[in-house]
Amino acid sequence: MRQTVSQILYDTSFFLLLALWIIFFGSFLLIDKNLIELGQEFGEWSIRLLWIVALPGILKRFGAKGLFQTIQIILMRSRRRLGDIMFMLALNHFMMVQGFFYLRYGLPNLTSIPVFQYMGIIGLTLLLPLFLTSNNYSVRSLKQYWQKIHNLIYLAIWFIAAHTLLNGQILEGSITVAIAILQIASWIVYKRRQKKIKVNPTSI
Ligand code: HEM
Repeated sequence: MRQTVSQILYDTSFFLLLALWIIFFGSFLLIDKNLIELGQEFGEWSIRLLWIVALPGILKRFGAKGLFQTIQIILMRSRRRLGDIMFMLALNHFMMVQGFFYLRYGLPNLTSIPVFQYMGIIGLTLLLPLFLTSNNYSVRSLKQYWQKIHNLIYLAIWFIAAHTLLNGQILEGSITVAIAILQIASWIVYKRRQKKIKVNPTSI
């Protein structure tokens, strides 16, 4: 059962990612149309996926058992793909709510860009190296640096939380802050457990 769900998620996420690439290139044909509403929808889905992508790591470090462990294992397999989908949703969001305006009318005066948008831009920029290296070739060639690059998620999530909070999306922002805090808490628990195991290896 677990394997079937895991496989369905893995396969479905491939097609979702493909669809998002098609939407990304296709939307350039609609550059003069108003795509803001669709762009907002992409932003909403991107942040939901960010929570989902963060979940398996948190559950693993907390040493989740039972149903939570099953969720962790299922999500872990598709984690990189889900991360790519999250990035593509965020990229489409950016293009539709701002990027196409920049392409049509040129970059605005940098002081006229609201702070919440800067937060989004920083968040998206921090996610770019993760997206570019989320493939087996990068895992193999970057070795220990791969994990270091992917730790950028722990920083990016705070900027994305600020982006939504400053834009008045209190619920989305609060959930994102809660996930970011859980990430930190799970690291503390994990490191403490590691220390205990080193001091007393029979405690595992
Ligand atoms: C990972 C990156 C990002 C995520 C997860 C994200 C997420 C969101 C979410 C959830 C909203 C609320 C949507 C709604 O109104 O229902 C939003 C709004 C918005 N975002 Fe982002 N965003 C990201 C990056 C960016 C970037 C780079 C920009 C570009 C400047 C941007 C510009 C905007 C704007 C202008 C709005 C307000 C849209 C409106 O209400 O008309 N976002 N974002």
